[in-house]
Amino acid sequence: MSVWAVIAAAGSGDRLGADRPKAFARLGELPLLAESVSRLDASRWIDGIVVAAPPGWEEPAILLAEELGAGKVSACVAGGASRAASVRAALAEVPADAAVVLVHDAARPILAEAVIERVLDPLSEGWDGVVPALPVADTVKRVRGDEVVETLERDELVTVQTPQAFLTDVLRRALAPGGDASDCAAVVERAGGRVRIVEGDPRLLKVTSAADLELVATWL
Ligand code: CTP
Ligand code: MG
Repeated sequence: MSVWAVIAAAGSGDRLGADRPKAFARLGELPLLAESVSRLDASRWIDGIVVAAPPGWEEPAILLAEELGAGKVSACVAGGASRAASVRAALAEVPADAAVVLVHDAARPILAEAVIERVLDPLSEGWDGVVPALPVADTVKRVRGDEVVETLERDELVTVQTPQAFLTDVLRRALAPGGDASDCAAVVERAGGRVRIVEGDPRLLKVTSAADLELVATWL
């Protein structure tokens, strides 16, 4: 069974506010993207990698992979206007015989091999997708403007991260109609797929602000 990874790295990083796209912002000595590329390349479970780069940054992404000696990177394509469009563009470069695809955000550099194993495992048990999840510490309320409409049952809530693992055919079919979603699992759920959670990792923090980048740098 062949497992491919897609790295969603095509975002602009508006909230980070760097002078370049977030995936190329410096984390230590290297661009943020380098961490995910190296870790996926080193994973014993991953056979190939496709990167969705910010439009115009495909060449720097390829050069980075070469510099890192990441031989599993087979293509760097231009991403789209939404995250889903970027994943769709990268999936088009994933070979037809890849039974499983792992979708990961470049914005989450601290990717541990144990998490990759946790999300891949249940796919052999009849699940269409598997996502890492963390419990919610705060109480979450639904609001309309300033007014509280509902208080949600905290025990029923989790926050989810990437990497998210899917049967490749299921994800391809779910993404085909177009449209956006903040994660791939939402698209698969909407298409009727069965998605389960496994234990996430607090270190998979998504770099959004400059403070996040500083914090994550201390975890390298
Ligand atoms: N992403 C992508 N293509 C897009 C938008 C986002 O590949 N059109 C990727 C980002 O590169 C990131 C992940 O999806 O790795 C999560 O998105 P987010 O953290 O929101 O990153 P940005 O969209 O770059 O940041 P911002 O929203 O602050 O502009
Ligand atoms: Mg964004």
